[in-house]
Amino acid sequence: MESNSSQMTPATVPVWDIGVRIFHWALLAAVFVAAMTGFFGSPDSLQIHLIAGISISLLVLFRLIWGFSGSTYARFRTFLFSPVKVRERIQEMRAGRHTRYIGHNPLGAWMIFALLASLIFIVCTGTVVLGGVFKQGPLAFITSFATGRFVQEIHQILAFGLVGLIGLHLAGVAYETVFGKEKLISAMISGNKPAGSNVPAPRFAPARPIVALIAFIALGMAGTTGVASFASRPGLGVPTAAIDPLYAKECGACHFAYHPSMGTAALWDGVLSHLDQHFGEDASLPDATRAQLAAYLKENSSEHWDTRIAHVLATANPKEPLRFTATRFWTRMHREIPDQVFASKAVGFKGACNACHSDAKTGLFAPQNIEIPEGARL
Ligand code: HEC
Ligand code: HEC
Repeated sequence: MESNSSQMTPATVPVWDIGVRIFHWALLAAVFVAAMTGFFGSPDSLQIHLIAGISISLLVLFRLIWGFSGSTYARFRTFLFSPVKVRERIQEMRAGRHTRYIGHNPLGAWMIFALLASLIFIVCTGTVVLGGVFKQGPLAFITSFATGRFVQEIHQILAFGLVGLIGLHLAGVAYETVFGKEKLISAMISGNKPAGSNVPAPRFAPARPIVALIAFIALGMAGTTGVASFASRPGLGVPTAAIDPLYAKECGACHFAYHPSMGTAALWDGVLSHLDQHFGEDASLPDATRAQLAAYLKENSSEHWDTRIAHVLATANPKEPLRFTATRFWTRMHREIPDQVFASKAVGFKGACNACHSDAKTGLFAPQNIEIPEGARL
């Protein structure tokens, strides 16, 4: 009987509950998508990048809640180790010794907190970039383009830092698997680890999924409502007034009426001073009309706005100072589009921005609103 019951003792212990495991693998997928679109994506992958970022935020929110409401080893209190413990762990590794931990070991635990903190910083800086550079999201109403550009550098550095942390995390897993004989990867799939004798176990805590769910819904809804209400405010330095009807009529006759925020005062002045030789066309206007347009364009030129387009098109190409399509930014952004696409019936010429940018009229040029028209695709 006695020997029987000892055989009945389970050879494994449940360590990672379902919440931890789903979180872990879903986070891996979301970070992978965010990294691929962030490092290698083009403007049209921004939307996927944002969806990945939102998923990461929700997953991290869940993990923070689960750290207080999950089962024993999911709780933060079971893997809060002092720096002294971390040093001991490193010394142990050096000496080739190995103390077994059922949950995270001290080094692994610090890695979890470093990863979570780094993800939080990346999401926050990403939101600043989205607000300042693209004038979208909850921070658009207070973030300048310059701030967005500056924080973009930090966002990138943090992203490289995260890649480094993930590398160390994998190195740690490899070390534990090889030297510690721990099957960490299968434990993160099955949730179980071999039971060890004389491994100190933390105080048992049951998972409280209902509490977690309520907290997640409450915080998630409060967050979403806040984000939505901030995001609905007009972006800092974003023009919102409708295009002047006279300008729309006179300058929208041959091509779409370029948004005034696209051109510097110097560009508009140059265009209006040479209307009789307007890129090979005669676009002359009566003096009174021209003066009216001049006043409107001067008042709304790029110097007055803080949008991306107002900044990136502001550096004119001295060879063709009156063309947006001659600026370095424009040429770089469109270098992969073949000339036939611009010459196609559906587009016409490079300056027909509205053929591919459905929001060109508003001067916003959001990456989400780019689509080469059906008829122009090769
Ligand atoms: C009679 C037709 C016509 C009218 C009216 C007209 N344009 Fe143009 N515009 C053109 C043509 C043609 C081009 C050059 C197209 C090309 O590059 O093949 C051009 C190009 C431009 C460009 C340069 C686009 C680029 O980046 O390549 C600007 C800026 C511009 N127009 C502004 C204006 C403004 C401002 C007005 C109103 C005062 C105006 N246009 C009215 C025909 C016109
Ligand atoms: C034939 C279609 C087409 C036309 C015409 C066109 N664009 Fe684009 N534009 C694109 C595409 C496609 C991209 C994205 C390039 C990429 O994926 O790298 C882009 C990218 C951009 C971007 C960068 C978007 C971002 O968020 O990174 C800006 C700004 C822009 N275009 C402005 C303009 C302006 C201004 C004009 C007119 C003077 C114009 N485009 C004309 C297709 C076009």
